[in-house]
Amino acid sequence: MEIRESLCTTINSERQIHHAAMGVVHQEGQWVIRPYPETRTLANLTQRAAADAWLSFVDDALPLVLAALGLGEMLITRSDASGLRWVDGAVSVAHVRVAGVTAPEAPGRPYALTLAVLEERVLRPYHGVSRAYGALLEAAVAATRIPWLGRRATEEALERARPLLEKTGSAKDWRAYEIIRARAEAPENGGAG
Ligand SMILES: Cc1cc2nc3c(=O)[nH]c(=O)nc-3n(C[C@H](O)[C@H](O)[C@H](O)COP(=O)(O)O)c2cc1C
Repeated sequence: MEIRESLCTTINSERQIHHAAMGVVHQEGQWVIRPYPETRTLANLTQRAAADAWLSFVDDALPLVLAALGLGEMLITRSDASGLRWVDGAVSVAHVRVAGVTAPEAPGRPYALTLAVLEERVLRPYHGVSRAYGALLEAAVAATRIPWLGRRATEEALERARPLLEKTGSAKDWRAYEIIRARAEAPENGGAG
């Protein structure tokens, strides 16, 4: 199963925009995302039938890190008259609609939401990702799971990322690195703050 990472934009009943990092599986004719039960993404996409979402695909780790750590309000959202919405800087975007909801078989496991693709658009040329990109995503994933994995897992992922940032990282990559590190060191995660 090939999982690609997306920035999933949803809207709640008060019309507030929410961004989250979400894996997406592209299958013939339909896509699937797997939000965990406690996520706002799941709530926004299941509070009414056939809810819309927008999946932005980015070649820069910072927006995914911000969204994953609950700082998505720092992202700029663009939209157009056709109803397409995307995160500023995205390479491409897809407007999708929930076509099916499968509840998890065991408590605490993710739901599976089947998405019908309404529109896809390439927004700008894609020039590849840096070696730092994947390393930062690994650290961000660990940072979203500190209660289960412990903060040491995030610190180890950041240690693995550091040499790659030193070789290939941009200023935005270093900002993402510091944001993840601050999360690992936050008092609620057992750090000194
Ligand atoms: C690269 C990456 C991929 C992620 N994929 C998922 C996913 O498939 N499902 C999920 O529930 N959370 C995923 N997360 C964690 C969420 O982005 C994070 O918990 C986020 O806050 C979602 O919750 P929210 O909708 O309440 O904001 C991922 C995080 C990262 C960094």
